[in-house]
Amino acid sequence: MELRSVRGNDHARHLALLLLLACAFAGGIAPATASGAGGRWELLQRSIGVSAMHMQLLHNDRVIIFDRTDFGRSNLSLPGGRCRVNPRERVLPAGDCTAHSAEYDVAANVARPLFVFTDTWCSSGTVAPDGSLVQTGGWNDGYRCARTMPVCGGGDRSCDWSEKQDALTANRWYATNQILPDGRAFIIGGRRQFSYEFYPKADPSDTSVVQMPFLMQTRDPEENNLYPFVHLSIDGNLFIFTNNRAILLDYKRNKVVRTYPVLAGGDPRNYPSSGSSVLLPLSPNPTEAEVLVCGGAPSGSYNSTKGGARIFVPALTTCGRIKITDASPAWVIETMPSPRVMGDMILLPNGAEVAIINGAADGTAGWEAASTPNYAPVIYRPNHSPGDRFEEQAATGVPRLYHSSVVLLRDGRLLVGGSNPHIYYNFSDVRYPTELSLEAFSPEYLDPSNDLLRPRILSPSPTGAAASVTYGAKLALKFSVPASARRRRRRGGAGAGSGSGGLEEVSVTMVAPSFTTHSLAMNQRLLFLEVAKTAAVRGLAGTYYVSATMPATAVLAPPGYYMVFVVNGHVPSEGIWVHIQ
Ligand SMILES: *[C@@H]1O[C@H](CO)[C@@H](O)[C@H](O)[C@H]1NC(C)=O
Ligand SMILES: *[C@@H]1O[C@H](CO)[C@@H](O)[C@H](O)[C@H]1NC(C)=O
Ligand SMILES: *[C@@H]1O[C@H](CO)[C@@H](O)[C@H](O)[C@H]1NC(C)=O
Repeated sequence: MELRSVRGNDHARHLALLLLLACAFAGGIAPATASGAGGRWELLQRSIGVSAMHMQLLHNDRVIIFDRTDFGRSNLSLPGGRCRVNPRERVLPAGDCTAHSAEYDVAANVARPLFVFTDTWCSSGTVAPDGSLVQTGGWNDGYRCARTMPVCGGGDRSCDWSEKQDALTANRWYATNQILPDGRAFIIGGRRQFSYEFYPKADPSDTSVVQMPFLMQTRDPEENNLYPFVHLSIDGNLFIFTNNRAILLDYKRNKVVRTYPVLAGGDPRNYPSSGSSVLLPLSPNPTEAEVLVCGGAPSGSYNSTKGGARIFVPALTTCGRIKITDASPAWVIETMPSPRVMGDMILLPNGAEVAIINGAADGTAGWEAASTPNYAPVIYRPNHSPGDRFEEQAATGVPRLYHSSVVLLRDGRLLVGGSNPHIYYNFSDVRYPTELSLEAFSPEYLDPSNDLLRPRILSPSPTGAAASVTYGAKLALKFSVPASARRRRRRGGAGAGSGSGGLEEVSVTMVAPSFTTHSLAMNQRLLFLEVAKTAAVRGLAGTYYVSATMPATAVLAPPGYYMVFVVNGHVPSEGIWVHIQ
């Protein structure tokens, strides 16, 4: 096979594409809906029967969803007349025949009930290097549990959770997990837990926890700084943020190696003043890493929602951005188009955009503690110039308040679900009933007007087994771009033209799917891979090869399953699953 080099981006190609689109239109192909920027919402399911408080996509393209077991009856029956009889259950100790967890099959758009015995309320999770979901903690009888959900193969519709009691040393309710380069989870915090531990334990008799005064010091008067924001930095240390302060922790030596300045204003940004946070996309062989923290609620907001007056204070409109690898780091403040608390931040697979989605414009996290949903997501473009980074998107009509979540799917859509600000499932007589629906938000890159630019990965197979790769290895990706195929056909047959209309700058990204709950997408990570020059496959119009080099170390990309996307300009392909170890 002969490969030809393709030159970089140029204006001629954009012009060619416009002409091509014009021709396609004249030729009777239906015009794309002119929605332009703003994205699209779609209701996938009116009710899957459980509320998506926690969500994790696995590499079988199924999303594991669960809420809490002591919410009363859900709207999804356990199969075969099965009931959960758990004497420690607080609401239905005599038996609950409904499910509190479900597995959602993305392609089939169906959910099936899963069985979970102990309480998973406000817990945390990590995908283990073997691809299974390891969920930790919860409440009541679930405080110290670890539960594993395997990746069911093929048509398997029966696999389910397995649970292990006393797997953790401390009670972990509202804790955060971060996967480490050795594949273990670092588990930090939780209510009245000023410590961290690791899971799995090297030795089952290991009951060590490491005390962490920082968590005690950063509690605000409302006692809270739950679900700390944790990101694995490129030097192997952990960036840990709570409320308005942050440190860099060498967890191997339990040493604080850097203390960051207080985030301006001092307003709290962790539960219940829940903002959100991401580690921004990493470049190939990165020498710097940046963190973005957005939204939250002013100090005192939670208290204000209680008592007779019930005041819902407007949420924070600010984001703070900081180079966590700088020797003298400083926060840079930016302002969002709207106030937001309980938002979620999801890195989009083109590596150029961050979605800020869900949540409220006032109040805080907690029962009945917000009154105005923020229906419109915002896209943040980290590489645009300051002042030109935020763009408000199309609004949904579904409130996504406390206990809502969102995850990125392999096809580039965001799966949005949950919202239950009530102490039980409550479908009536309340302003914001418990939401059992699932929606998809399709960012602008999925607009039909981008179809001709959208790369399609041909190999490795997008639907086959995950490609197995090692650190530093090269991955050859073959992909096609419809626009360039058509253009070349018009110019007199496959392979005859020298043009590459429709092919813009090609990049390859690698994304760790997140465990999302309570406004935090744990373990979320996006890396740009180093790519060699894109080469056209001779004889196959519009088909190209690009060779991508995997990250060099497990510090950059902890072992496990990632989605890899080919990105043409700003338009990502559907991803493929890759297993790195
Ligand atoms: C849930 O079930 C209740 C009781 O059967 C019913 O009234 C309600 O409409 C259902 N809600 C949803 C959102 O499916
Ligand atoms: C909120 O209320 C608690 C309990 O009444 C009180 O201890 C705390 O100081 C209050 N916090 C703020 C920020 O007002
Ligand atoms: C739902 O909320 C209303 C209003 O607070 C309350 O009266 C009702 O008891 C709640 N229902 C359940 C099932 O908790």
